[in-house]
Amino acid sequence: SSPGTFYDEVGGASTFQSIVHRFYAIVAVDPILRPLYPEEDLGPAQDRFTMFLAQYWGGPRTYSDQRGHPRLRMRHAPFIIGVIERDAWLAAMRVALDGVTLTAEQDQRFWDYLVMAADSMVNSPSPS
Ligand code: HEM
Repeated sequence: SSPGTFYDEVGGASTFQSIVHRFYAIVAVDPILRPLYPEEDLGPAQDRFTMFLAQYWGGPRTYSDQRGHPRLRMRHAPFIIGVIERDAWLAAMRVALDGVTLTAEQDQRFWDYLVMAADSMVNSPSPS
């Protein structure tokens, strides 16, 4: 990765591994999120998300080398994601982000992105 990227600034690979590790520890026991994940082994999903976030923030391009264009909305189309799922996902990511030491500004930047991205993944109407 190039120096001066957000990826480097927040601590590089280990920071992203730590965030996603904590996130998936929550997913593993979350009654809303866990049933959405088709595979019994969450390890490969954890790896994909780690690679994606690292790449998004300026780190190695491993995600695209292995998976091609992210097309995240399309890749999430098989899963029913309403506001309940979005909120559960964001709550888990909030805990995960709280597990690493970021400056207030870094945390805000990361969090704003996650909120925007999670909103854009909603593909199912809310229950009335
Ligand atoms: C994959 C759920 C939001 C990034 C997945 C998978 C599920 C899922 C069930 C399949 C696991 C796998 O086999 O990889 C959700 C839910 C969300 C959400 C319920 C709530 C809004 C997001 C957001 C991002 C993201 C906001 C990015 C910031 C990814 C990536 C993959 C993935 C990179 C792997 C895609 C691939 O290469 O196949 N997600 N997701 N997800 N998700 Fe999400």
